[in-house]
Amino acid sequence: NAPPTVEVAGKSFQRDEWTNVPPHIISCVNRSLHLTPSHPIAITRALVERQFIGPVYKSYNNLSPVVSVHQNFDSLGFPASHPGRSKTDTYYINKDTVLRTHTSAHQADIFAAGESKGFTVAADVYRRDAIDRSHYPVFHQMEGARMWSRSEVPGSDIAAAVRADLEKLPKHNLVVEDTTSVFHEGNPLQPEHSAKECEAIAAHLKRSLEGVVVEVFGQAKKAAIAAGEAKEDDAPLAVRWIEAYFPFTSPSWELEVFWQGEWLELLGCGVVKQSLPNNAGVPDKLGWAFGVGLERVAMLLFGIPDIRLFWSKDGRFLSQFKEGQISRFAPFSKYPPCYKDVAFWLKTSSSPAGGSLAQFHENDMMEVVRDVAGDLAEDVRLVDEFVHPKTGRKSLCFRINYRSLEKTLTNDETNALHESVRNALHERYGVELR
Ligand code: PHE
Repeated sequence: NAPPTVEVAGKSFQRDEWTNVPPHIISCVNRSLHLTPSHPIAITRALVERQFIGPVYKSYNNLSPVVSVHQNFDSLGFPASHPGRSKTDTYYINKDTVLRTHTSAHQADIFAAGESKGFTVAADVYRRDAIDRSHYPVFHQMEGARMWSRSEVPGSDIAAAVRADLEKLPKHNLVVEDTTSVFHEGNPLQPEHSAKECEAIAAHLKRSLEGVVVEVFGQAKKAAIAAGEAKEDDAPLAVRWIEAYFPFTSPSWELEVFWQGEWLELLGCGVVKQSLPNNAGVPDKLGWAFGVGLERVAMLLFGIPDIRLFWSKDGRFLSQFKEGQISRFAPFSKYPPCYKDVAFWLKTSSSPAGGSLAQFHENDMMEVVRDVAGDLAEDVRLVDEFVHPKTGRKSLCFRINYRSLEKTLTNDETNALHESVRNALHERYGVELR
């Protein structure tokens, strides 16, 4: 039975029916990988940040991950029905407080502080999600924004001021595909902005982020060539802009990079919805924002094959990296995997044992495995799902791949882990094991 309060980052919070943050997630809160200079996440953070260094951008790298539901969702215009708000997707400390699911949670406050023209925020973010080699419930993002003030630019001419700033940005050697338009429906120019203003802001946004790609993927290419994974050539990198949707930007885009034969989604961005600066008490400001995930980029830069490695405390991992250097990760021998299946009948509301338990979500499975097996679970997949034709009961079968990054798991160890997963499923979700 859980105590009435939950401790996160040295503070105590009242539990309620929304509380779903487990101890293994709370224990990640003070790791600060992005601030550990020789850690690949911090090296990647610094590399992206370098693009935004100077008098314009102020960097915030130490903001607490504990934020209000208002900061994470309401302040950004997320509708009440947005799936991101659900307990299956987000870690709630209690009904008013969450672990931030994205660095955008800090936009409104930083706009309200009002002192800078631009900022970056690098931080750990938390999401309930799948278990596999590229998903971990804690990861890192970098947010960036650039704002101009109508009252501060010459003649209040935002478009001219932004174009003037655009001219100061370097032009990049990059193949850019862009068929997007600021007039796209569903993702349109805002009524508070003229087409000229929006187009100028979009151009500044795109040039700035193309600079990130040149910097980061230029380095990634060098690293791949040095490791013999790519051939030296003078072909420029290629990117493309795609129309996207976010509740707090309009128009919005995603930027993709062509990397080793595939288009890779890199970041989300857009023209900041005017409701944000308006509500923050700085209605004369307008501009752009972006958010980029750091793990995916770091995995490419360093050749890191499994996202769990970032959380390793093993010296064989940590000692491989140096501040400011992109180097190839030399895998220590790969220990053998062990697959185990677990199948069970879900509780249905019509069953005599039925109770008030909520529907079983795939992320609940992930959470049980994370709780019990921690980083010893490499991936978890739903391999079978069916409904019994007569009883209408639903059965699920998941395959769990157990593998340690640090040693060979014995049969006994794997069996014991799997048995604990089975018991936890039964106890917490009332499922009937098969
Ligand atoms: N916060 C968004 C995400 O996590 C990314 C984003 C940031 C999009 C800023 C637009 C502007 O997906």
